[in-house]
Amino acid sequence: MKTVKLGIAGLGHVGCGLIELVERQADLRLPGKVEIVGVSARSKNRNRPVDISAYRWFDDAATLAEDPEVDIFVELVGGSDGPAKIAVEAAINAGKHVVTANKALIAMHGQSLEALAQEKDVDLMFEAAVAGGVPIVRVLRDSLTGVAVQRVSGILNGTCNYLTTQMLETGCSYDEVLEEAQRLGYAEADPTLDVSGMDAAHKAAILASIAFTADLDFSKVSVKGVDTVELIDLVLADRLGLRIKLITEGLLTADGVVCRVAPLALPIDHPLARVDGALNTVRVEGDPLSAVTLTGPGAGPGPTASAVMGDISKLFTPTARSPFGRAPHHGTRSFVEAKTAERSAFFFRVKLADRPGALASLTEALAAHNVSVDKLLQESADDSDVSPVAILTHMCSRGDIEDASARVSGLEASVGAPQVIAIDAVT
Ligand SMILES: NC(=O)c1ccc[n+]([C@@H]2O[C@H](COP(=O)([O-])OP(=O)(O)OC[C@H]3O[C@@H](n4cnc5c(N)ncnc54)[C@H](OP(=O)(O)O)[C@@H]3O)[C@@H](O)[C@H]2O)c1
Repeated sequence: MKTVKLGIAGLGHVGCGLIELVERQADLRLPGKVEIVGVSARSKNRNRPVDISAYRWFDDAATLAEDPEVDIFVELVGGSDGPAKIAVEAAINAGKHVVTANKALIAMHGQSLEALAQEKDVDLMFEAAVAGGVPIVRVLRDSLTGVAVQRVSGILNGTCNYLTTQMLETGCSYDEVLEEAQRLGYAEADPTLDVSGMDAAHKAAILASIAFTADLDFSKVSVKGVDTVELIDLVLADRLGLRIKLITEGLLTADGVVCRVAPLALPIDHPLARVDGALNTVRVEGDPLSAVTLTGPGAGPGPTASAVMGDISKLFTPTARSPFGRAPHHGTRSFVEAKTAERSAFFFRVKLADRPGALASLTEALAAHNVSVDKLLQESADDSDVSPVAILTHMCSRGDIEDASARVSGLEASVGAPQVIAIDAVT
Protein backbone atom coordinates (compact mmCIF):
# COMPACT_ATOMS: atom_id res chain seq x y z
CA MET A 1 0.00 0.00 0.00
CA LYS A 2 1.35 3.40 -0.95
CA THR A 3 1.95 5.96 1.81
CA VAL A 4 2.01 9.74 1.33
CA LYS A 5 3.68 11.94 3.94
CA LEU A 6 2.26 15.29 4.88
CA GLY A 7 3.74 18.46 6.32
CA ILE A 8 0.85 20.52 7.70
CA ALA A 9 1.29 24.25 8.30
CA GLY A 10 -1.56 25.93 10.16
CA LEU A 11 -3.26 24.15 13.06
CA GLY A 12 -6.38 26.25 13.37
CA HIS A 13 -9.93 25.20 12.48
CA VAL A 14 -9.01 23.45 9.24
CA GLY A 15 -5.56 22.18 10.26
CA CYS A 16 -6.93 20.45 13.37
CA GLY A 17 -9.91 19.19 11.34
CA LEU A 18 -7.45 17.59 8.92
CA ILE A 19 -5.42 15.95 11.70
CA GLU A 20 -8.65 14.45 13.08
CA LEU A 21 -9.44 13.05 9.63
CA VAL A 22 -5.95 11.62 9.23
CA GLU A 23 -6.31 9.94 12.61
CA ARG A 24 -9.53 8.23 11.59
CA GLN A 25 -8.57 7.46 8.00
CA ALA A 26 -9.66 3.84 8.45
CA ASP A 27 -13.24 5.17 8.04
CA LEU A 28 -12.37 6.84 4.72
CA ARG A 29 -11.83 5.51 1.21
CA LEU A 30 -8.28 6.69 0.60
CA PRO A 31 -6.15 4.92 -2.03
CA GLY A 32 -3.39 4.29 0.53
CA LYS A 33 -2.03 5.48 3.85
CA VAL A 34 -1.59 9.10 4.92
CA GLU A 35 1.09 9.93 7.47
CA ILE A 36 1.90 13.24 9.13
CA VAL A 37 5.61 13.99 9.13
CA GLY A 38 5.56 17.37 10.82
CA VAL A 39 3.39 20.33 11.74
CA SER A 40 3.87 24.08 12.07
CA ALA A 41 1.84 26.96 13.50
CA ARG A 42 2.52 30.25 15.23
CA SER A 43 2.57 28.94 18.77
CA LYS A 44 3.74 25.45 19.74
CA ASN A 45 2.12 25.43 23.17
CA ARG A 46 -1.34 26.60 22.27
CA ASN A 47 -4.22 24.39 23.43
CA ARG A 48 -5.64 22.54 20.43
CA PRO A 49 -8.50 20.07 20.00
CA VAL A 50 -6.01 17.46 18.73
CA ASP A 51 -2.84 16.05 20.28
CA ILE A 52 0.14 17.05 18.13
CA SER A 53 2.85 15.71 20.43
CA ALA A 54 3.55 12.72 18.15
CA TYR A 55 4.50 14.96 15.21
CA ARG A 56 7.76 16.82 14.58
CA TRP A 57 7.29 20.53 15.31
CA PHE A 58 8.59 23.23 12.96
CA ASP A 59 8.72 26.89 14.02
CA ASP A 60 8.99 27.89 10.40
CA ALA A 61 6.43 26.70 7.84
CA ALA A 62 8.89 27.07 4.95
CA THR A 63 11.41 24.77 6.66
CA LEU A 64 8.66 22.17 7.05
CA ALA A 65 7.75 22.63 3.39
CA GLU A 66 11.32 21.85 2.34
CA ASP A 67 11.83 18.88 4.69
CA PRO A 68 13.09 15.87 2.69
CA GLU A 69 10.57 13.55 4.35
CA VAL A 70 7.54 15.58 3.19
CA ASP A 71 5.76 14.48 -0.03
CA ILE A 72 2.82 16.89 0.19
CA PHE A 73 2.90 20.29 1.85
CA VAL A 74 -0.53 21.29 3.20
CA GLU A 75 -0.89 25.04 3.69
CA LEU A 76 -3.68 25.97 6.14
CA VAL A 77 -2.27 29.22 7.49
CA GLY A 78 -4.20 31.71 5.34
CA GLY A 79 -3.48 35.17 3.95
CA SER A 80 -2.56 36.14 0.41
CA ASP A 81 1.03 37.00 1.28
CA GLY A 82 3.45 36.48 4.12
CA PRO A 83 4.18 33.04 5.61
CA ALA A 84 1.61 31.16 3.50
CA LYS A 85 3.02 32.37 0.18
CA ILE A 86 6.63 31.98 1.27
CA ALA A 87 6.03 28.41 2.43
CA VAL A 88 4.03 27.39 -0.67
CA GLU A 89 6.75 28.74 -2.96
CA ALA A 90 9.41 26.98 -0.88
CA ALA A 91 7.50 23.71 -1.16
CA ILE A 92 7.07 23.94 -4.93
CA ASN A 93 10.69 24.95 -5.40
CA ALA A 94 11.67 21.89 -3.37
CA GLY A 95 9.59 19.69 -5.71
CA LYS A 96 6.73 19.03 -3.28
CA HIS A 97 3.07 18.85 -4.21
CA VAL A 98 0.97 21.47 -2.44
CA VAL A 99 -2.59 21.35 -1.12
CA THR A 100 -4.07 24.58 0.21
CA ALA A 101 -7.43 25.93 1.39
CA ASN A 102 -6.23 29.49 0.91
CA LYS A 103 -8.50 31.37 -1.52
CA ALA A 104 -6.79 34.72 -0.95
CA LEU A 105 -3.43 33.24 -1.95
CA ILE A 106 -4.84 31.54 -5.06
CA ALA A 107 -6.92 34.55 -6.13
CA MET A 108 -3.99 36.94 -5.81
CA HIS A 109 -1.06 34.73 -6.83
CA GLY A 110 -2.62 31.65 -8.45
CA GLN A 111 -1.25 32.57 -11.84
CA SER A 112 2.40 32.82 -10.78
CA LEU A 113 2.11 29.79 -8.50
CA GLU A 114 0.65 27.83 -11.41
CA ALA A 115 3.64 28.76 -13.57
CA LEU A 116 6.05 27.73 -10.82
CA ALA A 117 4.22 24.43 -10.19
CA GLN A 118 4.24 23.61 -13.91
CA GLU A 119 7.94 24.45 -14.15
CA LYS A 120 8.73 22.17 -11.21
CA ASP A 121 6.34 19.47 -12.43
CA VAL A 122 4.30 19.32 -9.23
CA ASP A 123 0.60 19.59 -8.42
CA LEU A 124 -0.96 22.56 -6.68
CA MET A 125 -4.48 21.75 -5.46
CA PHE A 126 -7.06 23.97 -3.81
CA GLU A 127 -10.46 22.27 -3.70
CA ALA A 128 -11.10 23.59 -0.18
CA ALA A 129 -10.40 27.18 -1.21
CA VAL A 130 -13.82 27.49 -2.88
CA ALA A 131 -17.07 26.59 -1.13
CA GLY A 132 -15.39 24.48 1.61
CA GLY A 133 -16.96 21.04 1.51
CA VAL A 134 -18.75 21.54 -1.83
CA PRO A 135 -16.62 19.75 -4.44
CA ILE A 136 -16.67 22.33 -7.22
CA VAL A 137 -13.04 23.03 -8.17
CA ARG A 138 -12.19 19.58 -9.51
CA VAL A 139 -15.72 19.09 -10.87
CA LEU A 140 -15.30 22.26 -12.92
CA ARG A 141 -11.67 21.60 -13.79
CA ASP A 142 -11.88 17.89 -14.61
CA SER A 143 -15.46 16.60 -14.82
CA LEU A 144 -16.98 19.48 -16.80
CA THR A 145 -14.28 19.79 -19.49
CA GLY A 146 -16.95 18.64 -21.97
CA VAL A 147 -19.06 21.70 -21.29
CA ALA A 148 -18.68 25.12 -22.93
CA VAL A 149 -19.37 27.10 -19.77
CA GLN A 150 -21.30 30.33 -20.12
CA ARG A 151 -21.84 31.32 -16.52
CA VAL A 152 -20.79 30.22 -13.04
CA SER A 153 -22.83 31.81 -10.31
CA GLY A 154 -23.23 31.04 -6.67
CA ILE A 155 -23.52 31.82 -3.02
CA LEU A 156 -19.96 31.49 -1.81
CA ASN A 157 -19.98 33.22 1.55
CA GLY A 158 -21.97 31.44 4.23
CA THR A 159 -21.68 34.33 6.66
CA CYS A 160 -23.35 36.78 4.26
CA ASN A 161 -26.05 34.28 3.36
CA TYR A 162 -26.68 33.62 7.04
CA LEU A 163 -26.96 37.36 7.71
CA THR A 164 -29.50 38.09 4.95
CA THR A 165 -31.50 34.95 5.76
CA GLN A 166 -31.64 35.77 9.47
CA MET A 167 -32.52 39.45 8.93
CA LEU A 168 -35.56 38.45 6.86
CA GLU A 169 -36.58 35.64 9.20
CA THR A 170 -36.22 37.56 12.47
CA GLY A 171 -36.93 41.14 11.35
CA CYS A 172 -33.72 42.24 13.09
CA SER A 173 -31.33 44.84 11.70
CA TYR A 174 -28.02 44.05 10.00
CA ASP A 175 -26.05 45.09 13.12
CA GLU A 176 -28.19 43.00 15.47
CA VAL A 177 -27.93 39.88 13.32
CA LEU A 178 -24.19 40.35 12.80
CA GLU A 179 -23.65 40.60 16.56
CA GLU A 180 -25.64 37.38 17.11
CA ALA A 181 -23.74 35.64 14.29
CA GLN A 182 -20.44 36.58 15.94
CA ARG A 183 -21.68 35.23 19.27
CA LEU A 184 -22.65 31.91 17.63
CA GLY A 185 -19.37 31.66 15.68
CA TYR A 186 -20.99 32.11 12.24
CA ALA A 187 -19.10 35.37 11.73
CA GLU A 188 -15.50 36.31 12.53
CA ALA A 189 -14.72 38.88 15.23
CA ASP A 190 -13.56 41.05 12.32
CA PRO A 191 -16.14 40.24 9.64
CA THR A 192 -14.81 42.73 7.05
CA LEU A 193 -13.43 40.17 4.60
CA ASP A 194 -16.81 38.40 4.53
CA VAL A 195 -19.35 41.23 4.59
CA SER A 196 -17.41 43.40 2.14
CA GLY A 197 -17.78 40.61 -0.45
CA MET A 198 -13.99 40.18 -0.73
CA ASP A 199 -13.92 36.56 0.47
CA ALA A 200 -16.63 35.59 -2.03
CA ALA A 201 -14.80 37.54 -4.75
CA HIS A 202 -11.62 35.52 -4.22
CA LYS A 203 -13.61 32.31 -4.73
CA ALA A 204 -15.59 33.66 -7.70
CA ALA A 205 -12.38 34.72 -9.46
CA ILE A 206 -10.86 31.25 -9.00
CA LEU A 207 -13.96 29.57 -10.46
CA ALA A 208 -14.15 32.02 -13.38
CA SER A 209 -10.49 31.45 -14.18
CA ILE A 210 -11.04 27.68 -14.32
CA ALA A 211 -14.38 27.80 -16.15
CA PHE A 212 -13.21 30.12 -18.93
CA THR A 213 -9.47 29.34 -19.10
CA ALA A 214 -8.97 32.99 -18.23
CA ASP A 215 -5.93 34.70 -16.79
CA LEU A 216 -6.92 35.48 -13.24
CA ASP A 217 -6.76 39.26 -12.82
CA PHE A 218 -8.32 40.10 -9.47
CA SER A 219 -8.06 43.85 -10.12
CA LYS A 220 -10.89 43.52 -12.68
CA VAL A 221 -13.31 41.83 -10.26
CA SER A 222 -16.11 44.12 -9.10
CA VAL A 223 -16.92 43.67 -5.42
CA LYS A 224 -19.89 44.89 -3.42
CA GLY A 225 -20.83 43.36 -0.09
CA VAL A 226 -23.96 42.90 2.01
CA ASP A 227 -22.97 45.66 4.42
CA THR A 228 -25.14 48.16 2.52
CA VAL A 229 -28.27 45.96 2.53
CA GLU A 230 -30.91 47.12 5.00
CA LEU A 231 -33.73 45.13 6.57
CA ILE A 232 -36.26 47.24 4.67
CA ASP A 233 -34.68 46.14 1.35
CA LEU A 234 -35.12 42.48 2.24
CA VAL A 235 -38.68 43.01 3.47
CA LEU A 236 -39.88 45.04 0.48
CA ALA A 237 -38.12 42.73 -1.99
CA ASP A 238 -39.80 39.76 -0.30
CA ARG A 239 -43.21 41.39 -0.74
CA LEU A 240 -42.39 41.85 -4.40
CA GLY A 241 -41.51 38.15 -4.76
CA LEU A 242 -37.72 38.59 -4.61
CA ARG A 243 -34.93 37.35 -2.30
CA ILE A 244 -31.84 39.51 -1.95
CA LYS A 245 -28.62 37.51 -1.58
CA LEU A 246 -24.91 38.05 -2.08
CA ILE A 247 -24.33 36.39 -5.43
CA THR A 248 -21.04 35.72 -7.18
CA GLU A 249 -20.88 35.55 -10.92
CA GLY A 250 -18.40 34.69 -13.61
CA LEU A 251 -19.79 35.37 -17.06
CA LEU A 252 -18.40 34.87 -20.55
CA THR A 253 -19.06 37.99 -22.66
CA ALA A 254 -17.92 39.06 -26.14
CA ASP A 255 -15.28 41.27 -24.50
CA GLY A 256 -13.93 38.72 -22.04
CA VAL A 257 -14.74 37.33 -18.63
CA VAL A 258 -16.79 39.48 -16.28
CA CYS A 259 -16.44 38.48 -12.64
CA ARG A 260 -18.34 40.19 -9.87
CA VAL A 261 -19.87 39.89 -6.45
CA ALA A 262 -22.89 41.91 -5.42
CA PRO A 263 -26.25 41.58 -3.72
CA LEU A 264 -28.75 40.47 -6.38
CA ALA A 265 -32.52 40.25 -6.18
CA LEU A 266 -33.64 36.75 -7.20
CA PRO A 267 -37.20 35.82 -8.13
CA ILE A 268 -38.45 33.34 -5.56
CA ASP A 269 -38.41 30.48 -8.12
CA HIS A 270 -34.76 31.15 -9.00
CA PRO A 271 -32.55 28.09 -8.28
CA LEU A 272 -30.41 30.04 -5.80
CA ALA A 273 -33.25 31.91 -4.05
CA ARG A 274 -34.01 29.27 -1.46
CA VAL A 275 -30.45 28.40 -0.48
CA ASP A 276 -30.64 29.78 3.03
CA GLY A 277 -28.49 30.06 6.13
CA ALA A 278 -24.77 29.32 6.04
CA LEU A 279 -24.97 27.02 3.00
CA ASN A 280 -22.93 27.57 -0.16
CA THR A 281 -24.07 26.78 -3.66
CA VAL A 282 -22.55 26.90 -7.12
CA ARG A 283 -24.45 26.77 -10.39
CA VAL A 284 -22.65 26.08 -13.65
CA GLU A 285 -24.49 26.89 -16.85
CA GLY A 286 -23.19 25.87 -20.25
CA ASP A 287 -23.67 23.97 -23.45
CA PRO A 288 -24.74 21.15 -23.78
CA LEU A 289 -25.25 20.74 -20.04
CA SER A 290 -27.94 23.35 -19.42
CA ALA A 291 -27.16 23.73 -15.73
CA VAL A 292 -25.85 21.84 -12.74
CA THR A 293 -26.04 23.07 -9.14
CA LEU A 294 -24.05 21.86 -6.15
CA THR A 295 -25.05 22.86 -2.63
CA GLY A 296 -23.55 22.09 0.77
CA PRO A 297 -21.54 23.32 3.73
CA GLY A 298 -19.13 26.01 2.54
CA ALA A 299 -17.01 26.18 5.69
CA GLY A 300 -16.25 24.57 9.03
CA PRO A 301 -13.37 22.32 10.09
CA GLY A 302 -14.98 19.02 9.01
CA PRO A 303 -16.28 19.93 5.55
CA THR A 304 -13.18 21.95 4.68
CA ALA A 305 -10.78 19.26 5.91
CA SER A 306 -12.70 16.69 3.85
CA ALA A 307 -12.02 18.76 0.72
CA VAL A 308 -8.32 19.00 1.65
CA MET A 309 -8.25 15.23 2.13
CA GLY A 310 -9.89 14.77 -1.28
CA ASP A 311 -6.97 16.64 -2.84
CA ILE A 312 -4.45 14.61 -0.85
CA SER A 313 -6.21 11.49 -2.07
CA LYS A 314 -5.72 12.56 -5.72
CA LEU A 315 -2.01 13.04 -5.04
CA PHE A 316 -1.43 9.33 -4.54
CA THR A 317 -1.23 9.51 -8.34
CA PRO A 318 0.21 12.95 -9.15
CA THR A 319 -0.46 14.35 -12.62
CA ALA A 320 1.29 17.74 -12.46
CA ARG A 321 -1.85 18.99 -14.22
CA SER A 322 -2.35 22.74 -14.51
CA PRO A 323 -4.06 23.78 -11.26
CA PHE A 324 -6.61 25.75 -13.31
CA GLY A 325 -7.04 22.99 -15.90
CA ARG A 326 -5.33 24.90 -18.70
CA ALA A 327 -3.52 23.31 -21.61
CA PRO A 328 -1.26 25.05 -24.15
CA HIS A 329 -3.80 24.63 -26.99
CA HIS A 330 -6.57 26.41 -25.02
CA GLY A 331 -7.20 30.01 -25.94
CA THR A 332 -6.68 32.27 -22.95
CA ARG A 333 -9.24 34.90 -22.12
CA SER A 334 -8.92 38.04 -20.04
CA PHE A 335 -10.94 39.32 -17.12
CA VAL A 336 -12.69 42.57 -18.10
CA GLU A 337 -14.79 45.05 -16.17
CA ALA A 338 -18.59 44.92 -16.57
CA LYS A 339 -19.95 47.56 -18.94
CA THR A 340 -22.30 50.25 -17.69
CA ALA A 341 -24.34 49.71 -20.90
CA GLU A 342 -25.27 46.25 -19.59
CA ARG A 343 -29.05 45.95 -19.21
CA SER A 344 -31.13 44.49 -16.41
CA ALA A 345 -34.30 45.07 -14.45
CA PHE A 346 -33.56 46.56 -11.03
CA PHE A 347 -34.93 46.65 -7.49
CA PHE A 348 -34.75 50.31 -6.51
CA ARG A 349 -35.50 51.44 -2.95
CA VAL A 350 -35.66 54.97 -1.66
CA LYS A 351 -36.91 56.62 1.52
CA LEU A 352 -39.14 59.63 0.88
CA ALA A 353 -40.34 62.33 3.21
CA ASP A 354 -44.12 61.88 3.50
CA ARG A 355 -45.25 65.01 1.64
CA PRO A 356 -47.42 65.74 -1.41
CA GLY A 357 -45.64 65.39 -4.74
CA ALA A 358 -42.77 63.28 -3.35
CA LEU A 359 -43.74 60.19 -5.33
CA ALA A 360 -44.25 62.22 -8.51
CA SER A 361 -40.80 63.78 -8.16
CA LEU A 362 -39.33 60.27 -7.79
CA THR A 363 -40.92 58.85 -10.94
CA GLU A 364 -40.01 62.01 -12.88
CA ALA A 365 -36.36 61.67 -11.81
CA LEU A 366 -36.34 58.05 -12.94
CA ALA A 367 -38.02 58.88 -16.26
CA ALA A 368 -35.43 61.59 -16.93
CA HIS A 369 -32.88 58.77 -17.19
CA ASN A 370 -35.04 56.38 -19.22
CA VAL A 371 -35.93 54.24 -16.21
CA SER A 372 -39.54 53.12 -16.29
CA VAL A 373 -41.49 51.56 -13.44
CA ASP A 374 -42.83 48.01 -13.66
CA LYS A 375 -44.10 47.70 -10.04
CA LEU A 376 -44.15 50.12 -7.12
CA LEU A 377 -44.69 49.41 -3.43
CA GLN A 378 -44.93 52.18 -0.86
CA GLU A 379 -44.85 51.54 2.88
CA SER A 380 -46.74 53.73 5.32
CA ALA A 381 -44.65 56.52 6.81
CA ASP A 382 -42.87 55.77 10.10
CA ASP A 383 -42.73 58.02 13.20
CA SER A 384 -40.31 60.36 11.49
CA ASP A 385 -42.67 60.75 8.50
CA VAL A 386 -40.38 58.83 6.18
CA SER A 387 -41.92 56.35 3.80
CA PRO A 388 -39.86 53.61 2.10
CA VAL A 389 -40.69 53.03 -1.56
CA ALA A 390 -39.56 50.03 -3.60
CA ILE A 391 -39.70 49.99 -7.36
CA LEU A 392 -39.10 47.18 -9.81
CA THR A 393 -37.92 48.76 -13.03
CA HIS A 394 -38.30 47.55 -16.57
CA MET A 395 -35.05 46.64 -18.33
CA CYS A 396 -32.65 49.57 -18.42
CA SER A 397 -28.90 50.12 -18.54
CA ARG A 398 -26.82 50.05 -15.38
CA GLY A 399 -25.48 53.47 -16.31
CA ASP A 400 -29.01 54.90 -16.54
CA ILE A 401 -30.17 53.48 -13.20
CA GLU A 402 -27.03 54.76 -11.49
CA ASP A 403 -27.54 58.25 -12.97
CA ALA A 404 -31.20 58.10 -11.93
CA SER A 405 -30.18 57.05 -8.43
CA ALA A 406 -27.83 60.04 -8.14
CA ARG A 407 -30.66 62.32 -9.27
CA VAL A 408 -33.12 60.79 -6.79
CA SER A 409 -30.54 61.23 -4.06
CA GLY A 410 -30.57 64.97 -4.73
CA LEU A 411 -34.39 65.31 -4.48
CA GLU A 412 -35.62 67.43 -1.62
CA ALA A 413 -37.95 64.61 -0.49
CA SER A 414 -35.26 61.92 -0.58
CA VAL A 415 -33.82 60.69 2.74
CA GLY A 416 -30.47 58.86 2.59
CA ALA A 417 -28.97 57.11 -0.40
CA PRO A 418 -31.24 54.94 -2.57
CA GLN A 419 -30.55 51.22 -2.88
CA VAL A 420 -30.00 49.78 -6.37
CA ILE A 421 -29.90 46.00 -6.80
CA ALA A 422 -30.01 44.18 -10.13
CA ILE A 423 -32.63 41.48 -10.57
CA ASP A 424 -31.25 38.16 -11.78
CA ALA A 425 -33.93 36.77 -14.04
CA VAL A 426 -32.22 33.43 -14.77
CA THR A 427 -34.40 30.52 -13.74
N1 LIG B 1 -12.35 27.94 8.57
C1 LIG B 1 -13.00 27.55 7.50
O1 LIG B 1 -14.14 27.09 7.58
C2 LIG B 1 -12.35 27.63 6.14
C3 LIG B 1 -13.08 27.23 5.00
C4 LIG B 1 -12.46 27.26 3.76
C5 LIG B 1 -11.17 27.70 3.66
N2 LIG B 1 -10.50 28.13 4.80
C6 LIG B 1 -9.12 28.59 4.64
O2 LIG B 1 -8.27 27.72 5.36
C7 LIG B 1 -7.15 28.44 5.84
C8 LIG B 1 -7.05 28.25 7.37
O3 LIG B 1 -8.24 28.72 7.95
P1 LIG B 1 -8.59 28.47 9.49
O4 LIG B 1 -10.01 28.86 9.67
O5 LIG B 1 -8.15 27.11 9.89
O6 LIG B 1 -7.65 29.56 10.17
P2 LIG B 1 -7.27 29.70 11.71
O7 LIG B 1 -8.17 28.90 12.56
O8 LIG B 1 -7.12 31.16 11.97
O9 LIG B 1 -5.83 29.02 11.77
C9 LIG B 1 -4.70 29.60 11.20
C10 LIG B 1 -3.49 28.80 11.62
O10 LIG B 1 -2.35 29.39 11.01
C11 LIG B 1 -1.34 29.50 12.00
N3 LIG B 1 -0.41 30.57 11.68
C12 LIG B 1 -0.62 31.90 11.69
N4 LIG B 1 0.49 32.56 11.35
C13 LIG B 1 1.43 31.58 11.10
C14 LIG B 1 2.79 31.61 10.73
N5 LIG B 1 3.43 32.77 10.55
N6 LIG B 1 3.44 30.42 10.54
C15 LIG B 1 2.80 29.24 10.73
N7 LIG B 1 1.50 29.17 11.12
C16 LIG B 1 0.84 30.34 11.30
C17 LIG B 1 -2.05 29.75 13.30
O11 LIG B 1 -1.19 29.39 14.37
P3 LIG B 1 -1.66 29.39 15.91
O12 LIG B 1 -2.73 28.34 16.01
O13 LIG B 1 -0.44 29.01 16.67
O14 LIG B 1 -2.15 30.78 16.18
C18 LIG B 1 -3.25 28.81 13.14
O15 LIG B 1 -2.93 27.51 13.58
C19 LIG B 1 -7.36 29.89 5.41
O16 LIG B 1 -6.71 30.11 4.20
C20 LIG B 1 -8.86 29.97 5.20
O17 LIG B 1 -9.23 30.96 4.27
C21 LIG B 1 -11.06 28.09 6.02
